[in-house]
Amino acid sequence: MSGSTNTVWHNATVTRAYRERLNGHRSVVLWYTGLSGSGKSTLAHAVEDKLFQLNCRTFVLDGDNVRQGLCSDLGFSVQDRTENIRRIGEAAKLLVESGVIAMTAFISPFRADRQRARSIFPHGDFIEIFCEASLDVCEQRDVKGLYKRARAGEVKEFTGISSPYELPTNPELTVRTGELPLGDCVAQVIEYLQQRDVFRDTDRQR
Ligand code: ADX
Repeated sequence: MSGSTNTVWHNATVTRAYRERLNGHRSVVLWYTGLSGSGKSTLAHAVEDKLFQLNCRTFVLDGDNVRQGLCSDLGFSVQDRTENIRRIGEAAKLLVESGVIAMTAFISPFRADRQRARSIFPHGDFIEIFCEASLDVCEQRDVKGLYKRARAGEVKEFTGISSPYELPTNPELTVRTGELPLGDCVAQVIEYLQQRDVFRDTDRQR
């Protein structure tokens, strides 16, 4: 890619490790993926509430919001979705560098795009969470009325209807958001983070 010549990487003296120590927890990205209406944003924000209670620093990058700002020039073609996910990956990487627990809530329908996002993080820092909800359930919920419009042909290239969703093959976690109560889904994520030692007290007592 062009556009990055004549730049010199600046190595910060306040490193990620120092920030993590200050925060008292590790930084990771929780990458939620799933159909529109599967509950990605709802789960991400509920997990954030819980993490906040646990004194963790967090930030949620949310599909609908980011598409009004950072990615407002992008639509839903394959190429635009790929670029959307590339930018989100880079933004999440900055957040992880800043020491927070970053969460992204995007359909991210293509395996290759998720894999590319994963590849820019150090091993183990990218936690893919599949929000599993059937098309039937998402379509019945149809919170935004978009499935109805997609069926009527008014919204083109709609994921699950006229554009594919490629199932995660090896996500770190699958949460059955289509069936389980929100509280159970949150507990599953928090438990996973505990197992992964995200809340380890670095050097500091909390
Ligand atoms: S992604 O495919 O590039 O990851 P993203 O998560 O940013 O998608 O945006 C998905 C949201 O945009 C949906 O939840 C829905 O509200 C809205 N949307 C509008 N048009 C489409 C479409 N054609 N396909 C999927 N979602 C759409």
